[in-house]
Amino acid sequence: MCGIIGYLGKRPVKTVLLEGLRRLEYRGYDSAGVVFFTENNLFVERVKGKVLDLDERLANREVRGQAPGLGHTRWATHGEPSKENAHPHFDCTGEVAVVHNGIIENYHALKQELSARGHRFVSETDTEVIAHLVEEALRETGDLFSAVKGALSKVKGAYALGVIWRRDPETIVVARNQSPLVLGVGENEVFLASDVPAILPWTRRVIFLEDGDLAILRVEGPKIFRLTGEEITREVHEIAWDASQAEKAGFPHFMLKEIYEQPEAIRDTLRGRLNPETGEVDLSDAELSPEFFEGLERIFIVACGTSYHAGLVGKYLFEKWAGIPVEVDLASEFRYRDVLINDRTLAIFISQSGETADTLAGLRLAKELSARVLAICNVLGSTIAREAHRVIYTHAGPEIGVASTKAFTSQLTIFLLLTLYMGRLTGRLTLERAMELSGELVELPEKVNLVIKAVHPVLKELSEKYFRQEDFLYLGRNILYPVALEGALKLKEISYIHAEGYAAGEMKHGPIALIEENVPTVALAPKEGGITYEKMLSNIEEVRSRRGPVIGFGTEGDAHLANLVTDFVGLPEVSWEVSPILYTVPLQLLAYEIAVKRGCDVDQPRNLAKSVTVE
Ligand code: F6R
Repeated sequence: MCGIIGYLGKRPVKTVLLEGLRRLEYRGYDSAGVVFFTENNLFVERVKGKVLDLDERLANREVRGQAPGLGHTRWATHGEPSKENAHPHFDCTGEVAVVHNGIIENYHALKQELSARGHRFVSETDTEVIAHLVEEALRETGDLFSAVKGALSKVKGAYALGVIWRRDPETIVVARNQSPLVLGVGENEVFLASDVPAILPWTRRVIFLEDGDLAILRVEGPKIFRLTGEEITREVHEIAWDASQAEKAGFPHFMLKEIYEQPEAIRDTLRGRLNPETGEVDLSDAELSPEFFEGLERIFIVACGTSYHAGLVGKYLFEKWAGIPVEVDLASEFRYRDVLINDRTLAIFISQSGETADTLAGLRLAKELSARVLAICNVLGSTIAREAHRVIYTHAGPEIGVASTKAFTSQLTIFLLLTLYMGRLTGRLTLERAMELSGELVELPEKVNLVIKAVHPVLKELSEKYFRQEDFLYLGRNILYPVALEGALKLKEISYIHAEGYAAGEMKHGPIALIEENVPTVALAPKEGGITYEKMLSNIEEVRSRRGPVIGFGTEGDAHLANLVTDFVGLPEVSWEVSPILYTVPLQLLAYEIAVKRGCDVDQPRNLAKSVTVE
């Protein structure tokens, strides 16, 4: 995720910016840049690569800088990682410099309008439109603050922004909407950053800006306004965290931080792609149009690990709503079997990292066999993303914990978007149902947020009871069967407990032999499951009658299920399509809490790598 640092004060600006950027490296990035004053000019340096490279470039050029200055680490979302796309970005005059974190949803339209008015664009980023909008507004107002405010009135989307202007060396203007931004206040100095760790060496007094805030920073301190115009005050917080706690925003582990980031990640994945008024899905950012799906006879979904589980959920959705037969394969199997593929096959490859060796090999094979190849990736410009015919990015932000969490629920979100898209295309999904589903999708981030907050304390307590067990069984049916597999994988990889995910109907064909009082079963049984709900209840009875404890996840207020199981966790009612996302969240938290109680290294589990680039 992009990182921003900015400084206004008497300290050596270069040192503050570089040190700040170094402290934001943990967020993940592919390029970096800085801008600051030298005498009355703006000096800029950008590199594709690391902050260390930027440091070397600056050292070679022996520049002496003055504040104000801005720095940025970029995690590409629009336009590949490159020096040209690295921030800061400028207007046509080269006098307005902008650093930005977030996504400008209407940048296409804005770029077209600005180009028609004669503006020249030098990058592929969405950010650059802001610099040009500020340039235009400055011509009218001659004042940076009003110009940024005016520019933002035209912008739709998420942003944390820092803007400087060559003609006003006393000021930085900042703004925030749905992307984090904090201000640091010191004696005659002000800092801005996307995250607290960036400014901790110099100040512990911070102000967390809220969505819709806009501020003028001068050495005497920040003045904060709302986008609507009125001035406001925000509380100054004294930060007690150490640097490592601060990187995790106060969470003890990246994994927990990333579990809590899921509402944001889902929102970012949906951003600009769903029109809740019409139920229409726009995948033009992935260059997807109806022609790409024309005449399809079969779909293959190929991936590894957690991404494979997302693919399994995709199968249930596509078969129901797109009416096209789907096969889901583990990439390591797919690449060595005689797959029957032709140009009427759509092959979907899912990968968080975009670098998984088996998935990449499968993709190359499918291309060779003339399939239409679509990738679902989180890392922009990764090999899988580059080699696919089309790519849909999940926009979950960098995932640092080795165990995948927010990338998975973002992949599921993409499948819901694709379902809506293809379901409407094939006519199987009625407009009415599409509208209902899109309404649910809009509400989903907040629902996930409420579920996390409600169930985390419950699962923390439950983990106390179960963390010493050595075997777990996870059962689900239908669209929640892959979620059972994912729940078991999460538990086994971070707590080293033996856990098996099973389709509940398979239990009688083998795993039932394992059931006894020391083998807990996690059962997913929402009432919305219809016929499979009744079947799940029977399976749970079978476990209970063999004295196996059951942790049952089901619909809030389901007294029948609550009475049947040993421990009941209720979740809000959701539709069948959306249930995999909601039921995944508590399983992540259960695995996390159990692993923590067992003293495991949650973020770096033994023997595992974040990106598996070997076979
Ligand atoms: C599990 C996990 C792995 C990955 C798998 C595929 O938590 O993270 O199972 O899902 O290695 O990785 P990607 O999605 O990067 O291809």
